[in-house]
Amino acid sequence: MLKKRLIIAMTGATGAVYGVRMLQVLQTQEEWETHLIISSAGVVNLKHEMNMKRAELTQLADVVHGIDDIAASISSGGFKTEGMIIAPCSMKTLAAVAHGFGDNLISRGADVVLKERRRLVVMPRETPLNLIHIRNMATVTEMGGIIFPPMPAFYSKSDSLMGMVNETVGRVLDMFGVNVDGLYTPWTGL
Ligand SMILES: Cc1cc2nc3c(=O)[nH]c(=O)nc-3n(C[C@H](O)[C@H](O)[C@H](O)COP(=O)(O)O)c2cc1C
Repeated sequence: MLKKRLIIAMTGATGAVYGVRMLQVLQTQEEWETHLIISSAGVVNLKHEMNMKRAELTQLADVVHGIDDIAASISSGGFKTEGMIIAPCSMKTLAAVAHGFGDNLISRGADVVLKERRRLVVMPRETPLNLIHIRNMATVTEMGGIIFPPMPAFYSKSDSLMGMVNETVGRVLDMFGVNVDGLYTPWTGL
């Protein structure tokens, strides 16, 4: 079976759990092939927030690319993917994506996804936001990227942090047609 490829990129913004959970969920989906890239700041946060080493994370992905491997398959538009999720996305990587500054495989990968008009979902995390953060989000949106800040919805009355993470991960994966039972319950009205 030809699998659908999805690039998952993790950066040094807080919220490593989003990238980890996404990979865990996709691992259960036979028709999907994940391509992981993590920045060096992402590795630091992964250790700090989840006590997880890079080597443990890479077990969750089908293909792992080095952040500086600018010749990797996903650095070319000729390599077909369904798109890319940056989870979480730092303001630095957001800036690079917004300005086409492809100096590492995350920003280059996003550049390729945008130029090929594939789906790019960016999960930026910072607070409060300064003007350049907001402008960069607007620029990515103007190019067709989707800005999906990991903001929990309290109306679903989740009783745990993981419940809130699952809901966000479920909503993002839904955008690629990955529907996994139990991640979140779609709103049906009051
Ligand atoms: C514990 C920790 C939390 C951080 N959280 C954020 C954050 O939420 N958003 C952000 O833009 N940068 C955050 N940073 C800073 C980024 O890691 C830093 O700007 C880094 O250069 C980003 O590089 P990258 O995009 O290549 O991963 C954090 C750094 C640390 C150590």
